[in-house]
Amino acid sequence: MLQCRSDRPRQEEQLQDSPVLEVLSQRVSCGKLTEPGPSPEQLLQIKRAALRAADHRLLRPWRFLVVEGDARYRLGELFVEAETRRKAELEDKQRDKILAKPLRAPTLIVAVARCRDDPKVPEVEQLLSAGAAVQNMLNAAFALGVGAMWRTGGFAYDDHVRAGLGLGESDRIVGFLYLGTPATALKPALDIDPDDYFSTWP
Ligand SMILES: Cc1cc2nc3c(=O)[nH]c(=O)nc-3n(C[C@H](O)[C@H](O)[C@H](O)COP(=O)(O)O)c2cc1C
Repeated sequence: MLQCRSDRPRQEEQLQDSPVLEVLSQRVSCGKLTEPGPSPEQLLQIKRAALRAADHRLLRPWRFLVVEGDARYRLGELFVEAETRRKAELEDKQRDKILAKPLRAPTLIVAVARCRDDPKVPEVEQLLSAGAAVQNMLNAAFALGVGAMWRTGGFAYDDHVRAGLGLGESDRIVGFLYLGTPATALKPALDIDPDDYFSTWP
């Protein structure tokens, strides 16, 4: 429970060993992921975290597609189709590399910004909300010991991929969240000095 200002000494004590703050300040991505993916319970926690993204006027400008198992092969094929439409022909090596992309983790979540016209909430705010949802999922995954990596790349911005996923023309893929068991030790979080990025104004 958050404390009010008059409780500050107690609050500071609590903050020092808050597991939540530990997650927020120590979270790192993991690019090398293997089986198993998150359990259904873990996935539910990750989904719930996404839905707590800050959201101006509660537009809920996000949708998420969970891609697991054989569906990852279909996603790889969709990527190959998209690439083929861009380049006339693909070498086998290139094709295999693209097909393997969604196999980099047992579970993927395609995070989509579904922005709509709103008199008070410009598109950028809705995109930011979708990004916040992804960040919440990264943090939740880290808290649960699930490895995670937010990726985009050209296929995130490809119309053929968007349509193949059943998304609308104005939907924007803001990321492919890769989830699984870390296959390597997690790197330590960089120790960045807040003063490098925060200053007092004026
Ligand atoms: C919108 C967005 C897209 C990203 N796309 C990629 C990507 O396609 N490939 C990649 O290696 N890292 C990508 N990253 C960066 C990684 O997810 C990760 O944040 C970065 O490697 C730093 O690691 P850290 O999260 O442990 O600090 C992306 C990050 C964001 C916010």
